[in-house]
Amino acid sequence: MKVKLITGGTIINANHMGEADVIIEDEKITAIVSPQSDVALSALNGDTEVIDASGMYVIPGGVDAHVHLQLPMTPEATSSDTFTTGTSAAAWGGTTTVIDFAGQIKGTAIPDAIESRLEEAYSQCAIDYGFHLSIGDVNEQSLIDLSNLLDEGISSYKLFMAYPDSWYSDDGQILQVMQLAADTGAMIMMHAENGIAIDVLRDQAFKRGATGSIWHGRTRPPELEGEAAHRAIQLASVAGSPLYIVHLSSSNALAEVARARNNGRNVFAETCPQYLYLSLEEHLDQSGVDGVRHICSPPLRKVADGHQDSLWKGLRTDNLSVVATDHCPFCDAEKMLGVDDFRQAPNGLGVIEHRMDLLFQGVLQGEISLHRWVEICSTTPARLFGLQGKKGVLAPGADADVVIYDPKKEHVLGVETHHMAVDHSAWEGVAVTGQAVSVLSRGRYVVKDREFVGNAGHGAFLKRSIPDVLR
Ligand code: URP
Ligand code: ZN
Ligand code: ZN
Repeated sequence: MKVKLITGGTIINANHMGEADVIIEDEKITAIVSPQSDVALSALNGDTEVIDASGMYVIPGGVDAHVHLQLPMTPEATSSDTFTTGTSAAAWGGTTTVIDFAGQIKGTAIPDAIESRLEEAYSQCAIDYGFHLSIGDVNEQSLIDLSNLLDEGISSYKLFMAYPDSWYSDDGQILQVMQLAADTGAMIMMHAENGIAIDVLRDQAFKRGATGSIWHGRTRPPELEGEAAHRAIQLASVAGSPLYIVHLSSSNALAEVARARNNGRNVFAETCPQYLYLSLEEHLDQSGVDGVRHICSPPLRKVADGHQDSLWKGLRTDNLSVVATDHCPFCDAEKMLGVDDFRQAPNGLGVIEHRMDLLFQGVLQGEISLHRWVEICSTTPARLFGLQGKKGVLAPGADADVVIYDPKKEHVLGVETHHMAVDHSAWEGVAVTGQAVSVLSRGRYVVKDREFVGNAGHGAFLKRSIPDVLR
């Protein structure tokens, strides 16, 4: 591969920003140098490809640490983006790494779950990818299998306090997995909602004829996310493991995370664009297809109760460390399974393509700084999931995952222009400023001047190491 010199742009890392040139050799960044410096000029020879980034930001490729591609959520509904369409859409939006999940369903073995997920993704991805393990069956054998996973490059496990009929683990099971993680250094990810109480509320609502989408939200109140977050934090504290709360949506859960962090605990949390921008009042409280399209868990929250404001504040203060998408889109035909019974709607929505742009609006609105944008979208997720130094940073030795981002480009999100394989958009008509113009993954273009030039199969499976967290 030719040497590439990205010149004229403003590079932004989590801890530094300035005018600099980026030199790429093969798959790696080899130098970040002052423009026109001797090193920059000496990189120029007849064979060097010069990429003009004048007026652009040059940022590390986004790391989306929570996605669900082609996830068979129920026998009737599989998330609609495949590994190929989902990773391509991610690249269109400036994301160059995704971490999906291998899922151990009850009654199945962890090694089988991993093997089949690896097979499904093999040669299908346009960008690099890894897997967390979702654990649905904590038993003696699972605990043995878990300790071997680090060798396979899987250093994070998701547990569920929700979904009693499928993925739920009780507190004793959770504690045992946390104890193991405390020994090995793996990261525990938690879906923190009190599923036992939620199921009672859901069934009571349905029985009295409360069947519409809004009841999805009303039967998953923020108190039950706060309670579960509190319990997860206490269990992790007893076990001595790090904890990462996924898709945190409420100020209730955030307060628990903030308290734990103030007490010096290794507790981290992610939120998602949908919780920052969409709401229970405006989006979930609609009839028919418009309401069911917005069903996800935890649910969209009430703006009037201040959740969105708290989440932005959490992002500023680092009580929220990461923004991931929880991308899990379903087409209308599948979403409509829940139109007469909110309990039957497959949970999740599509956002993998828009995360970088939506969070950039937070920069423009003065909610977060440019550094923080890069930190929460790229650098910290890489660090917390064992990709430190390789992904999420522009530095010599890192993979050449680089996005040339036009901070002035205005565009409108929606189904006509997005590249996600879903027949509607939760972001229809949202006008944004800022767009990835060109995207490189390990030194190769995936998107070049707003044209997709990547291919399924370029993306490599990432064997991740132990997260970069003090223990
Ligand atoms: O609604 C959601 N979040 N769907 C994906 C599954 C999960 O719990 O992350
Ligand atoms: Zn979840
Ligand atoms: Zn998820």
